[in-house]
Amino acid sequence: MMRRVSILLPASLLSACSGVQAMSEGAGFGSLQFNHLMALFLAITGLAYVLVLAFLAFAMKRRRGAPDPARIKTLLIGWTGFIVLGLIVLTAASFLNDRQEAAVAADRPPLTIKVTASQWWWGVEYSSSDPQRTLTTANELHLPVGRPADVELNASDVIHSFWIPALGGKKDLIPGRSNTIRLLPTRIGRYRAQCAEFCGMEHAHMAFDVVVESPRTFAAWYDAQLKPAPQPQTALAKAGQDWFMAHACANCHAIAGTDANGHTGPDLTHVAGRSTIAAGTLPMTRGNLMGWIANPQGVKPGARMPAVSMTADELRAVGAYLETLQ
Ligand code: CUA
Repeated sequence: MMRRVSILLPASLLSACSGVQAMSEGAGFGSLQFNHLMALFLAITGLAYVLVLAFLAFAMKRRRGAPDPARIKTLLIGWTGFIVLGLIVLTAASFLNDRQEAAVAADRPPLTIKVTASQWWWGVEYSSSDPQRTLTTANELHLPVGRPADVELNASDVIHSFWIPALGGKKDLIPGRSNTIRLLPTRIGRYRAQCAEFCGMEHAHMAFDVVVESPRTFAAWYDAQLKPAPQPQTALAKAGQDWFMAHACANCHAIAGTDANGHTGPDLTHVAGRSTIAAGTLPMTRGNLMGWIANPQGVKPGARMPAVSMTADELRAVGAYLETLQ
């Protein structure tokens, strides 16, 4: 038993140090800076730890005889000097780190994105001076590599926290005020973000994907997202669309190019193009979509989405329709 614990414990701790939701990924300026600072803190505090232990061992070994006062004095002066110098170095490094992060990529025009947190999902809006190019989506963030993004953070109900560990630090989303966090993604990839402030029952199921891509891929994604939803091509999907529009779904969700214009829930115009549903809770598949619609409380207890009474055929049709929203 102990042997198993001694193997599993370090393994689980180490596995927390890498992956799509880890600061150590260093895929953005903020997390890289943090990792450097962390290494410096570890080096200095680690040295202090080793010195204390060495001193303790030395003292235990040498119990007899009066200590030499001159030697004690030198040791104490050296130790105090080390502590003071160490603290000065760490304070200065933290300060400079903060200044560098605040001024990162100040010479490049940032992308401006508004993120609104609600129990328990993320609304995302890319601003543009041209209203035709303002883009609304949800539960997924696409960013071009190498371009700074100023993310304006708002909340509609309670305090949430925006945190993409692989890219940078975290910042709260507070009802009634706007915060801004600047991100600079430095490496292409797909990362996971998580709400980092307890915000109620489904706090743990309030995640989103972050896709860092080349500027060209990002531009193509952006243009595709601006298009209205495609019209359904099969009879089943058409039946699903009709059902969706005639029932409560259309009051809470918007689908561009249709009559659905609700804003209580996530925009679904291109929902099938995202990789997860229910804010990072399930992978996007037709089966998961149907399971989520049929029994939202089973997937995410407490979720604001109500179960709408429907037959199995209607559920199949709505699933088929939503799957066309690429
Ligand atoms: Cu939102 Cu925790």
